[in-house]
Parts: sequence; C-alpha cells; structure tokens
Amino acid sequence: MGQGHRPQVITGNWKMYKTLEEALTFVKELIPKIKDSVSKVYIAVPFTVIQPLVKEIEGSKLVLGAQNMNDASEGAFTGEIAGKMLKDAGAQFVLLGHSERRRIFKEDNAFINRKVKRAIQDKLQPVLCIGETKEEREAKQTEEIIRKQLSEGLAGIESHDLNNLIIAYEPVWAIGSNESATAEVAQEAHRFCRQVLAEITSQEIADQIVIQYGGSVNASNAEELLSQPDIDGLLIGGASLSLETFVQIIHDSESVLNRKVETI
Ligand code: PGA
Repeated sequence: MGQGHRPQVITGNWKMYKTLEEALTFVKELIPKIKDSVSKVYIAVPFTVIQPLVKEIEGSKLVLGAQNMNDASEGAFTGEIAGKMLKDAGAQFVLLGHSERRRIFKEDNAFINRKVKRAIQDKLQPVLCIGETKEEREAKQTEEIIRKQLSEGLAGIESHDLNNLIIAYEPVWAIGSNESATAEVAQEAHRFCRQVLAEITSQEIADQIVIQYGGSVNASNAEELLSQPDIDGLLIGGASLSLETFVQIIHDSESVLNRKVETI
C-alpha cells in the first residue's frame, strides 16, 4: 500500500502555553482558516482548556487532545490525570512519552507502555512519541533506540488495537533547538520505524500507521519534510503557538498531500 492511503495529520503541541482566553482567541481564528483542509488538524492543549474548547470546535475539523495522562484508571495520585477524565472533558487523543516527559519527569518505556494500553482502553487515540538523543545518534544507536522505544512502548498490545495509533518520531536534539533533522535523515528514521512496526504487527498495519515528524518544524521546512514517503504528518511545538505560522504549515501540507495522492 502506498503512502497516499494514510491520512496526513498536522498537530500543534502547545506544551505549557496559553491561558483560556488566549486559547479561545486562537481557536476562533483558526477554525475558518482550516474549513476546507484535507489534512487533519490536531491540537494538544493544556488540561484546563480542553472542556471550554470543545464547545468552540463543534462542527469544525479541529481535533482536541491532551499532552499526557496517568496509566491508572483512577486512584490516590495527587496531581495526575486519568484518561477517562480527559475523555470526559472532550479530548480525542493524547500525546504519550514526549521527550520532555521522558527526560524531565523520568518516564520510562514500561510506564509509557501502560499509558498506551490505558489510552486504548479509554478510547483515546494514543500518539506515542519516540526519538534518540544527540549522544545516542552520535554513538550510532539511533536504530537501537527506535526499536527499543517502539517494541517496549507497544509491548502486549493486540495488532488490531494499533491501527488507530500515531507515532511521532521526534529526535530529542531537534526539539526546540532550531535544528530540525534534514528531510533525508527524518525519512530514513521514519522508514526504519515503519520496518519495526511491521515486525511488531504486520506490514498491512504498519502501512496504515501515521508517523509524524517533530522537532523544530517551521514554515520553511514543513513542506520538504512532508514530501518524504514515510512522513505522514508533523508534531509542531513552538511554531504552532503562532496562528499565522501554524496556518501556513497546514496550507503547505495540503499541496504535499495532493501531490502524494496523485502519485499513487
Ligand atoms: P518544537 O517542539 O517544534 O518546538 O521543536 C516539538 C515538540 O516538542 O513536540
């Protein structure tokens, strides 16, 4: 199956930015600008704005999600949030294992794996984030890390539960650094991710899984990255906070998608 059969998903990751007022203003202005979008547009927002934004996005193409959740269904875990609470608030997807969670909050593959399972159970679309550090790339361990994060992150999950999964390949050295991976480097990593996904599941399922690239995506590099055969979308941090840049990237993604569809 060719890449043209996969949807293209452009996700903004707001991280710990935007108050309710800022979020509402952004979304109100964004919706009319993406009404004819063929790319899917997702935003991963702070917990506090999920519910108020749900009303705002009604009838639009925008998909709302969260940036993290706990692996337990509920319990005495002060400060944590459960998948079913996110679902209740109106989230449709959740980022899991973002490198900032792995690095700053010491989340490991086993914990992230339990979260992926819980997200599936709670009917939230999991977006599993993976990627190597600069040291790992320099030590030529990129493939080993990708294999480990994918196989441990997805361990014990039935293949049929994985077709709704999104993988975000985000090399840690490229995040917030203004040093995006080149399109060639990113494509090679994405090709390898798909190979590992085929080993874990089946070629057919691996061919359906959307693999996003993330790490210093901006309006100047988005189109080239998306033109690669195994890059099916983008996870955008800093550049998604500016409405103008985010919309520009979404518009650029449309022409790439149209070209990809024409070539299948
Ligand atoms: P960046 O962040 O686009 O600011 O590099 C990407 C991410 O952390 O998801």
